[in-house]
Amino acid sequence: MPDLHVTNREGDTKTLPGRPGTSTMEVIREGGIDELIALCGGEISCATCHVYVDPVFADRLPPVSEDEDALLDSSEYREPTSRLSCQIPFSEELDGLRVTIAPED
Ligand code: FES
Repeated sequence: MPDLHVTNREGDTKTLPGRPGTSTMEVIREGGIDELIALCGGEISCATCHVYVDPVFADRLPPVSEDEDALLDSSEYREPTSRLSCQIPFSEELDGLRVTIAPED
């Protein structure tokens, strides 16, 4: 099973078993990390699933859609590595992916 490494807002990192076919947001939520609220459930309308992604994995991620881009722009914590975790399908190819949960807006 591919692993996902998640760093929370306190700086603690947890390794979670990823389930291919689900989103990175779902892997985080199913792993018991509640500080990633993911209010809209992956409908690209809340931005509460905002994470920073290790740049090493950037070329393995799907491109940022217009909707995702607009929502990320609404965050005062947007960085070049920002993504909405609900828009990153998890897969074997992403084994070892590292994400950090962005501060709450
Ligand atoms: S869960 Fe709402 S935008 Fe990702």
